Amino acid sequence: MKHCKFYSRLLSLLLFSSSILAVQATPWDDLSGEQLEQQLVDKFAEGKYSPKGADNCLTCHRKNETVMALFSGVHGNIASSDSPMAGLQCEACHGPQGQHNRGGKEPMIAFGADSKLSAPTQNTVCQGCHNDPEQMAWHTSTHNLEEIACADCHTIHAATDPTLDKLSVNDTCTSCHTQEKADMNKRSSHPMKWDQMTCIDCHAPHGSMSESALVKPTVNDTCYSCHAEKRGPFLWEHAPVTESCVSCHNPHGSVNDNLLDNRAPQLCQQCHAADGHASRVVPEPGMDAFGGGKSCLNCHSQIHGSNHPAGSLLQR
Ligand code: HEC
Ligand code: HEC
Ligand code: HEC
Ligand code: HEC
Ligand code: HEC
Ligand code: HEC
Ligand code: HEC
Ligand code: HEC
Ligand code: HEC
Ligand code: HEC
Repeated sequence: MKHCKFYSRLLSLLLFSSSILAVQATPWDDLSGEQLEQQLVDKFAEGKYSPKGADNCLTCHRKNETVMALFSGVHGNIASSDSPMAGLQCEACHGPQGQHNRGGKEPMIAFGADSKLSAPTQNTVCQGCHNDPEQMAWHTSTHNLEEIACADCHTIHAATDPTLDKLSVNDTCTSCHTQEKADMNKRSSHPMKWDQMTCIDCHAPHGSMSESALVKPTVNDTCYSCHAEKRGPFLWEHAPVTESCVSCHNPHGSVNDNLLDNRAPQLCQQCHAADGHASRVVPEPGMDAFGGGKSCLNCHSQIHGSNHPAGSLLQR
């Protein structure tokens, strides 16, 4: 039975995290997050579940549209044997009712941005049921370490969770990631502002084994999944390209063409001598060697690598 394992885990987490605190006799509203966790420990230990389940909760909460929206989503599906509705119902997530039905003063486990409970405590509830191997990367993920709650991204009381919708997931992410929001609206960007592409085309939202939680093991593998022609192999490679595409590109967006961090010649001169070799190079007649906005690329046009036998200087 899933639930038993889940409650023993939650209980041990709560006991562990609050064993240093004394029992409080302050009114509920004045409790700090830590004190509240202590109270919920006591409540869990008592295990006073409502004998009538959701029916009981709804005597007071059914006028709240948010609450009722649960029944349009998967967690309120009364037909499924895996659903919370087949078990402890509302209390599967919000914990045992205890004295809460006496006017709603005794706290329940609450979720999301306004919750007084720490993210790890909130998340333990979800992970009680959602603990398949695919979730393992979560534990070492930056989001977990930064104490982001599952409910910061996911909405439970809704017919469809906006985070699971390709057309609104970018909004979820950019609600916190304002730098990337600014970048994706710049002149050159991946088509994210129209939701044709999403953050999770490149990032695994629950974490991954790679840096920056990418969907593939490396930056380049991530890029190759759509830009296969850049993979090569090339007869003449350009070292920074095989090393990492982000040595020149900002994947989120840029004020320069082609998502470039910098324009040529500065882009190139980060690595190649600043004086270049303009004086030694004899341009073709009538050619403005560094003009047309292309600068070095006027001659070194095969910047990602060349397959021409005489292309060692990436010029053909
Ligand atoms: C006798 C009425 C009553 C009953 C029964 C009741 N509640 Fe409440 N509940 C309240 C009141 C009042 C509040 C505080 C005002 C509000 O947020 O709506 C509240 C608040 C909550 C909150 C928000 C807590 C917070 O800190 O934001 C949750 C979650 C909750 N109840 C869940 C439940 C669940 C689950 C049940 C059934 C096990 C239940 N309630 C039964 C009256 C009740
Ligand atoms: C699968 C876990 C889960 C179940 C089951 C669940 N809730 Fe919730 N509840 C949440 C989360 C998460 C939130 C935060 C808002 C959201 O994600 O929709 C929440 C928010 C609430 C709130 C605060 C709503 C507000 O206006 O801000 C109340 C009250 C509540 N739930 C009551 C209930 C009742 C009553 C039931 C049973 C009918 C229930 N919940 C079942 C997870 C759950
Ligand atoms: C009592 C078990 C249980 C708990 C607790 C629970 N879930 Fe679920 N959840 C399910 C079931 C069952 C499904 C539907 C089947 C599936 O996709 O695994 C589901 C599906 C989901 C989905 C996919 C929804 C979709 O529309 O496909 C998300 C996201 C999710 N849960 C998040 C959460 C979060 C966040 C929490 C904690 C606030 C939570 N769950 C708590 C049982 C649970
Ligand atoms: C940073 C935002 C974010 C956080 C935090 C987050 N999720 Fe998700 N989750 C997503 C996105 C985005 C998807 C859709 C993934 C896809 O479509 O490939 C998803 C999908 C899911 C699904 C359904 C698909 C699946 O993988 O089975 C479940 C269940 C789920 N999340 C549970 C959780 C739980 C449990 C937590 C907390 C431990 C959590 N999520 C934390 C963003 C998040
Ligand atoms: C509630 C706020 C919040 C939401 C929502 C959120 N993030 Fe984050 N995310 C953070 C914080 C905080 C960090 C750590 C600081 C940083 O790198 O900005 C982070 C870090 C990251 C990182 C860097 C990971 C690493 O290992 O270096 C990526 C990638 C990321 N988030 C992607 C996403 C995506 C994709 C979504 C939407 C599915 C999302 N985030 C939603 C808060 C959030
Ligand atoms: C085309 C692929 C791609 C898309 C789409 C994408 N990212 Fe990234 N993101 C990356 C790569 C690659 C890195 C690593 C950059 C580096 O190492 O310099 C990264 C890094 C990050 C980081 C860590 C930044 C840091 O300074 O450590 C965050 C946060 C992030 N992305 C959030 C997002 C968000 C939010 C979205 C959606 C608006 C998004 N990304 C869309 C490829 C992408
Ligand atoms: C999910 C597919 C996908 C992934 C992964 C992806 N791209 Fe793209 N990329 C696109 C699409 C779609 C376009 C837009 C093509 C168009 O507008 O013609 C694009 C365009 C570009 C452009 C040209 C932008 C412009 O302003 O014209 C560059 C540069 C680029 N991507 C670099 C990268 C890099 C670097 C990575 C890895 C960090 C990457 N891409 C990963 C799909 C992807
Ligand atoms: C040394 C810097 C540099 C590196 C590293 C680099 N690029 Fe580029 N990339 C450029 C320049 C410069 C342009 C503009 C080319 C032009 O204007 O002719 C460009 C243009 C692009 C374009 C759009 C035009 C086209 O050729 O399709 C894509 C897509 C692209 N790069 C993907 C990648 C990928 C994927 C990687 C990693 C495998 C990568 N780039 C690594 C410098 C670089
Ligand atoms: C991140 C550093 C970096 C950037 C940025 C960069 N390069 Fe390179 N480039 C290298 C390295 C390293 C080599 C290999 C040098 C070697 O093998 O001696 C190389 C090789 C070359 C070569 C072949 C020359 C040779 O001796 O093999 C040319 C031509 C070249 N780069 C042009 C450019 C141009 C044009 C730009 C700008 C669009 C550029 N590079 C941007 C690092 C960079
Ligand atoms: C008018 C065409 C032209 C332009 C513009 C040009 N190059 Fe070259 N480049 C050449 C030729 C031809 C060679 C080989 C002859 C030589 O070594 O002088 C070369 C050689 C190189 C080499 C190989 C090492 C070396 O110094 O001989 C590098 C690196 C390089 N260029 C980088 C650049 C960078 C960076 C820029 C922009 C600041 C640039 N080039 C602009 C034509 C050009």
